Amino acid sequence: MTDSQRTATLTIGDKSFDLPIHSPTAGPDVLDIRKLYAQAGVFTYDPGFTSTASCDSTITYIDGNEGVLLHRGYPISDLAGKSHYLEVCFLLLYGYLPSAAELEQFEDTITRHTMVHEQMHTFFRGFRRDAHPMAIMVGVVGAMSAFYHDSTDISDPRQREIASHRLVAKMPTIAAMAYKYTIGQPFVYPRNDLDYASNFLRMCFAVPAEDYEVNPILARAMDRIFTLHADHEQNASTSTVRLASSSGANPFACIAAGIACLWGPAHGGANQACLEMLKEIGSPENIPEYIARAKDKDDPFRLMGFGHRVYKNFDPRATVMKQSADEVLELLGVENNPILATAKALEEAALADPYFAEKKLFPNVDFYSGIILEAMGFPTSMFTPIFALSRTVGWISQWKEQFSDPAHKIGRPRQLYLGETERSYTDIEDR
Ligand code: SDX
Repeated sequence: MTDSQRTATLTIGDKSFDLPIHSPTAGPDVLDIRKLYAQAGVFTYDPGFTSTASCDSTITYIDGNEGVLLHRGYPISDLAGKSHYLEVCFLLLYGYLPSAAELEQFEDTITRHTMVHEQMHTFFRGFRRDAHPMAIMVGVVGAMSAFYHDSTDISDPRQREIASHRLVAKMPTIAAMAYKYTIGQPFVYPRNDLDYASNFLRMCFAVPAEDYEVNPILARAMDRIFTLHADHEQNASTSTVRLASSSGANPFACIAAGIACLWGPAHGGANQACLEMLKEIGSPENIPEYIARAKDKDDPFRLMGFGHRVYKNFDPRATVMKQSADEVLELLGVENNPILATAKALEEAALADPYFAEKKLFPNVDFYSGIILEAMGFPTSMFTPIFALSRTVGWISQWKEQFSDPAHKIGRPRQLYLGETERSYTDIEDR
């Protein structure tokens, strides 16, 4: 954090208080209010954290007005076009692009941690077959702290690194197992001769009865989806992981908390909700009705896959995702997919409508990812597990960074209390 001598002055009544101003390397200045309550006896109020920085970080930078997303300074368009997911994982975890030797060693480490403890197969059997894969992932990832005791001591940097590698490596295996379990097919073990994305596709779609060849174009599209979802600053699920970690909880429990938060339809659940919305709309001629509903203040309906707390311009990930959607659908010969036709017509109608332009509501990353995943053969229930799989490295990188701050302490927000002041207990006879 770049300290400066600059201060802001807050005046309350006849008293003034100086608040230090911190200058970031990019983005808005930050008012330091850490001593405000001690000095002025007041809290600040920001329930949605729309104007509040919860930490300092060097991992990801977003400029919502310019549609900029940088990971360790590298634009997402470069990473999605020139890099691949495990190299982006190294970049997020360690802060720089690896040498060829470092990348080879890292990929070998991840590859050799992809299997889960065999006893976990029994753990899966406790779920109903119709359990949502996200419910299974929350449970199984949380349960990893019951299987991997040698990487739960967060005070040991080596155990923190092993836990990081295990989570990145095993998440695709767990997500694929959750999918196979819900469709009644046998689990497919990972293969060390396949890259990360190809391994995941094979664990999801291969069956023991025949060989399965991964299509390299689908594997590339899958890898790109992983990259586009890898990290995104202090979003709701990342903030959940940081808050859980601030109490000293073990990494598996913290990541399980992040998965639970991501599941919500306003966050990572939006890609599933977006596909379900497009199926409900059914065809382009029904779009005017749904646009009107999205604009109707009395109608809770929202266009899933549109809008963003930070991006008040195009989500740069959506731009790349849209290119991938065209490639995958052309490869699969489904460019006439009625869902895609509806999606493209909805995008055109919304972008042409002054309401959405005024409210800065553009398609976000979830708008196109669902279309690609649907075309690749995933059920909508697997969309958010894939988001969770991709975001694990971001959660873990932010979790690791928190430990690098010796001043980090347990997160404990205060409140604006509007309840009853003290009153006497009334015996039931007198009520
Ligand atoms: C992700 O934070 C991240 O970085 C998240 C994420 C990541 O990578 O981690 O980017 C992933 O979660 C992407 C967002 C996916 N969610 C959706 O697609 C769900 C639909 N979108 C909305 O629920 C909403 O846009 C949010 C939750 C994404 C953002 O909500 P905000 O910033 O709190 O904005 P808001 O709810 O205050 O809305 C502002 C205005 C409101 O109108 P007014 O009350 O001002 O008149 O815009 C309207 C809203 O009614 N609005 C929408 C809308 N989103 C906001 N109207 C119709 N359709 C929508 N989708």
